[in-house]
Amino acid sequence: MVTMAHSSLIAILPGDGIGPEVTAEARRVLEALGLDLAFEEAPVGGAAYHQTGNPLPEATLDLAKRADAILFGSVGEPSCDALARHLRPEQAILGLRKELALFANLRPAKLFAGLEDASALRPEVARAIDLLIVRELNGDVYFGEKGMRTTDAGLRQGYDLMSYDEGEVRRIAIAGFAAAQRRRGKLCSVDKANVLETSQLWRDVVIEVAADYPDVALSHMYVDNAAMQLVRDPGQFDVIVTGNLFGDILSDQASMCVGSIGLLPSASLDEGGKGLYEPIHGSAPDIAGQGKANPCAAILSAALMLRHSLGQPAAADRIEAAVASALAAGHRTADLGGTCSTKAMGDAVLAAL
Ligand code: IPM
Ligand code: MG
Repeated sequence: MVTMAHSSLIAILPGDGIGPEVTAEARRVLEALGLDLAFEEAPVGGAAYHQTGNPLPEATLDLAKRADAILFGSVGEPSCDALARHLRPEQAILGLRKELALFANLRPAKLFAGLEDASALRPEVARAIDLLIVRELNGDVYFGEKGMRTTDAGLRQGYDLMSYDEGEVRRIAIAGFAAAQRRRGKLCSVDKANVLETSQLWRDVVIEVAADYPDVALSHMYVDNAAMQLVRDPGQFDVIVTGNLFGDILSDQASMCVGSIGLLPSASLDEGGKGLYEPIHGSAPDIAGQGKANPCAAILSAALMLRHSLGQPAAADRIEAAVASALAAGHRTADLGGTCSTKAMGDAVLAAL
């Protein structure tokens, strides 16, 4: 049994839109476990911008650094759409990922029993889904040189440099192979090596790293084909390792294959296992404050936190089983065609615990 020498400090960064509603449910579930956890909250995203003029205030970043793990809601706020890019809510999550060197983003997707009807795919196709997307989170077009300029012909031009160096590719490749070893031993590296130099380097380095993992079956797929295969036959995938942009897109796509974007959690880890945990969904301003949001992705993110940062795998299993049984019993929020409020869904998970 893992014992904790001191109580673990969890930073709660609720953020914007539905973030506060869903993180509140995840916190209730964590509190119900009877573990020695301390919580501290701080504003982030548009909420922080409106309070302090900065989407990632120094105090919030400090808390994130001090904490043993971070539970993050979501950022994105229409009232901030006209702001300069560096003041936008999204900069907060990008800044946290970069400042804390959270380069490995794990996004598992699995169909919960009873949700076949919610999947965008045919039930027999959806039932086979049990995959993990390992998305690189510190590089790619997200963090390359970017800007707007006027061309010699007087046209406005936007640009974002896509680049990876081999060290960045190597460490995420290792994370992908290690994840495949813990699962079914299959790794599919997704790139666009038929067109992009960045992807050629990606592929070369992934092949080099493969030499250290003879027990993992490595394959390669172009990202357009991967998008197609994800809906044609998602059961073929075990672990997918890919870059920041492709991983962003493919993980949203995977979410609808298992029923709703309101179900998918994620872990963003550094080299040492410290992590930030967040639903893959955004702030959904259209339903914010109405108690309609699905808290499952946030609750499942808390489970990932227990497993990957707090050394409490049994507690993680308990939460995942409780979510599965609440869903199987028919408790569903509106995104899954049900009538449960956010809080009622949290109650159902707590009851199942
Ligand atoms: C995600 C989100 C973010 C991303 C946004 C909010 C910056 O879409 O976590 O998938 O693009 O990484
Ligand atoms: Mg996304």
